Amino acid sequence: MRSHQSGSDRFSIEWASSAGKDAKEQIGKLEHEERVVTTTPGVNVAELDDKVMRMYRDVATNPGGTFHFEMGRGLAERLDYPAAILDQIPLGAVESFAGVGYHFDFADLHSGDQVADLGSGSGMDAFFAAIKVGSEGSVSGVDMTDEQLAKANRLRDERGLSTVTFVKGRIEEMPFPDSSFDCVVSNGVINLSARKADVFREAWRVLRPGGRLALSDIVTERQLSEQIVCNTDLWASCIGGAAQVDDYRGAVEEAGFHITDIRENAEYRFLSDQAQGATATYGVKSVSLIAERPRGLDRLRV
Ligand SMILES: C[S@@+](CC[C@H](N)C(=O)[O-])C[C@H]1O[C@@H](n2cnc3c(N)ncnc32)[C@H](O)[C@@H]1O
Repeated sequence: MRSHQSGSDRFSIEWASSAGKDAKEQIGKLEHEERVVTTTPGVNVAELDDKVMRMYRDVATNPGGTFHFEMGRGLAERLDYPAAILDQIPLGAVESFAGVGYHFDFADLHSGDQVADLGSGSGMDAFFAAIKVGSEGSVSGVDMTDEQLAKANRLRDERGLSTVTFVKGRIEEMPFPDSSFDCVVSNGVINLSARKADVFREAWRVLRPGGRLALSDIVTERQLSEQIVCNTDLWASCIGGAAQVDDYRGAVEEAGFHITDIRENAEYRFLSDQAQGATATYGVKSVSLIAERPRGLDRLRV
């Protein structure tokens, strides 16, 4: 993780903090127009993208196949998704569910909320959120894998769910305007990005002040070896890209969020021997967290 606050940035931020509200908003905008690309060293990003898209194409089209990780309704129930709500979600979305935790208690969605789902996959969490926010609310899923998007869109159309949209895009550069959501959710996705700092900065940008980031993701207790980090197969399986938990929290906070709670999801486990070996050695685990985009200029650390 690296800070991108230069000396001159710091000066303008100090100036803004003593100036009026308009000036603060202006500096906040400038800060977010700066797109700093922080890529994990040693990772072949093009190869990684290709493997991630192939793997999640299979998750969409062949959910009964063999993966390093568990999927589907059994997993969702074990993670604590209420069965009564799962019953209302299209079966195809539930069977391709590849999340790693349950964070909708943290998200605390209300009728009318506008929600974004980062890495929406075949759509299970987006459909879940749509039930929570009702006909006055809306849910926008973003994903980069065509087959996941095609499946989610087909299921949405079959149900005539007009409050849900799925768009193609990267979570590091989201196709959404500033301050457009009350809540951003994400399940088992950010570990797959080699640009996690950019993802958290984007989540901050698209949330309104006071908005919530509720997510579940894979992290580690100990830093992974370079050999594992550079193994794009393990990365695409949600292991190789897992950040050390304190670094992960640091990246969320550096983007400007205030983390209010974090907990471990002991019910989540990987399936293959290779994945379980890495899990035992490095303490690979699933966590859920809730963070808030504060209403002031907190991200800028004046
Ligand atoms: C482990 S699956 C989780 C999907 C969904 N959240 C769920 O719980 O079933 C990861 C999803 O994130 C998408 N994804 C991974 N990296 C992404 C990125 N950088 N930008 C957009 N989508 C990404 C993949 O295409 C895949 O659909």
